[in-house]
Amino acid sequence: MKFICLTLLIISGITDSRSEQYKVVGPADSVFVVAGEDVILPCSVKPNISVVDMRVEWYRLDQKDLLVHLFDDHVDKNTEQIHSYRGRTKLNHQELQRGNASLKLSSVQIFDEGLYKCFIQSKSWNDDTTVNVKVEALGHPPVITVDGFDHSGGLHLQCESEGWYPEPDLEWLNSEGVSLSSETTETHRNTDGFNVKHTITLHHSDKIHCRVKLRHHMLETLIITTSNMFISWRTTVILISVFVVLSVIAGILIAVFVHKNKVSHLRAYMVNVILDADTAHRRLIVYCDGKQVKLVKAHKKELDRNEAPKDRFNDYLGVLGKDGFSSVCFYFEVQVKGQTEWYLGVTRASVNRKGSISLSPENGYWTVSLFDGKYRTHESSYVSRALSVNPQRIGVFVDYEKGLVSFYDVESMSLIYSFTDQSFNKKLYPFVSLGYWMNENPTPLIICDDY
Ligand SMILES: *[C@@H]1O[C@H](CO)[C@@H](O)[C@H](O)[C@H]1NC(C)=O
Ligand SMILES: *[C@@H]1O[C@H](CO)[C@@H](O)[C@H](O)[C@H]1NC(C)=O
Repeated sequence: MKFICLTLLIISGITDSRSEQYKVVGPADSVFVVAGEDVILPCSVKPNISVVDMRVEWYRLDQKDLLVHLFDDHVDKNTEQIHSYRGRTKLNHQELQRGNASLKLSSVQIFDEGLYKCFIQSKSWNDDTTVNVKVEALGHPPVITVDGFDHSGGLHLQCESEGWYPEPDLEWLNSEGVSLSSETTETHRNTDGFNVKHTITLHHSDKIHCRVKLRHHMLETLIITTSNMFISWRTTVILISVFVVLSVIAGILIAVFVHKNKVSHLRAYMVNVILDADTAHRRLIVYCDGKQVKLVKAHKKELDRNEAPKDRFNDYLGVLGKDGFSSVCFYFEVQVKGQTEWYLGVTRASVNRKGSISLSPENGYWTVSLFDGKYRTHESSYVSRALSVNPQRIGVFVDYEKGLVSFYDVESMSLIYSFTDQSFNKKLYPFVSLGYWMNENPTPLIICDDY
C-alpha cells in the first residue's frame, strides 16, 4: 500500500512538471456591468491547476499596460497599482488554488470600461487572456418639459435625461406606440456620462411617451396633453393679440398726445404776426389784414430794381412782419402749402433788403427755404437738407436769450433745423419771402393763427 502511494506521488510529480503547460482562458464575450455595481473579470487556467505559486498579473491593455492587480510570491503586491483601482480589486486566494484567477472589481465606474489582460506566469510557462469590460450607466428617468407654444399653436415638448453610458436612444411615442421623429436632438458628454435632449412640437392633444433605451435597459416618462391646453393657448394668443392691439392704440394715443403737447408747448409762445406791406417787394400783395402775401402780375416798372423805394426788398420777393420781438421766446407758423419757392425765418430791421444777398446769420437772416425742389438752410452758405416729408406748414421758434432759432414741420412736429448759440442784440422780425424775383407761382404764404 505504501509502495503504491509512493508510486502515485512520483507519477503525480512527473505529471505536475509536465502540466506546467497550461492555457489561460477568459470569457467568450464582453463583460457587461452596470456602473456602481461589482463585477468578476473571469480568468482561469486549463487544466485547473493551482496558480498559488505563480505570478498573476492584471493590467489595462488599452492604458499603457498600467497595473490593475498583482499577485506574486503568494501575496498581493499592489504598490504599483493605478490609483483609481486602489482598494477596489480582489483575488480570491482559495479560488487561486483551483486555477481560478478571476478578479473582483468593486463599484465599477464608467472609466473602468476597457480591455484587461490576465497574465499568468509559472517558472517555466506563461499565458494570458483578454477581458473586454463594458460599463453601462443607467441615467435618470426622462423629464418632459412643456416649453410653450409656437406662433402656429404647436406645443413645444422637450424631453431630457441625464447620466447615461454609453449614449442611449431616445424616442417619442404617441398613444398608439408610433414613433414620432424629434425636431432637435442634443447630446452632451461629461464625467457622469451622456445627457440627451430631444424636442418635438405637438399640434393636438395626445398621450406622449418619452423613452430612453440602453441595450436592455429602458426608462420612460409620460405626458398627457389635453385639448384644454390648446384651447387655452388660443385664448392666450387672442388675449396677447388684444393686448398688442391695445398697446399699439395706446402707443398711437401717447404719440398723438406727445405731439399735441409739443405743439401746444410751442404755441404757448405764439405771437400775432402782421406783415408790413411797406417792406414788401413791389410784385407782392399783402392782404387779409397782413396775414397773407402773394405774387401779382409783374409790370415793367415793378421789375426795375433800382426804382424800388428805400424800405422795400428789390430782388427777394420778401416782406417783414410789422412788429419785432425781443421777448424771451416767440413762435409763429407759416403755411407754405402749394408754394414751390419760399424763404422764411427771422431777421433784424436794419438788414440789407437790396440785391441778391445771402440770407444767412452773417447778414442778419436766420432762414430755411425751398428752392429748385430742395429744402435748404443758410448757415454760412446754402446747405441742402433731405426731409422725409414735404412740410405744409413751418413753425418758427425763437429763444432770444438762448440764441436759438428752430424750424419745425408742424404736421409731424419734427425739427427741420436749429440755429444755436446765436447772439441777438436787436429785435427780431418775422421774414417771409416768395423766393427770388423770377418766381411765378401765385400760391400765397399764409400766417396761421388757426389753432
Ligand atoms: C472564480 O472565482 C470567482 C471569485 O473570485 C467566482 O465568483 C467564480 O465563480 C469562480 N469561477 C469558477 C469557474 O469557479
Ligand atoms: C478541476 O476540474 C475538474 C473537472 O472540471 C473538477 O472535477 C476538479 O474538482 C477541479 N479541481 C479543482 C482543484 O478545483
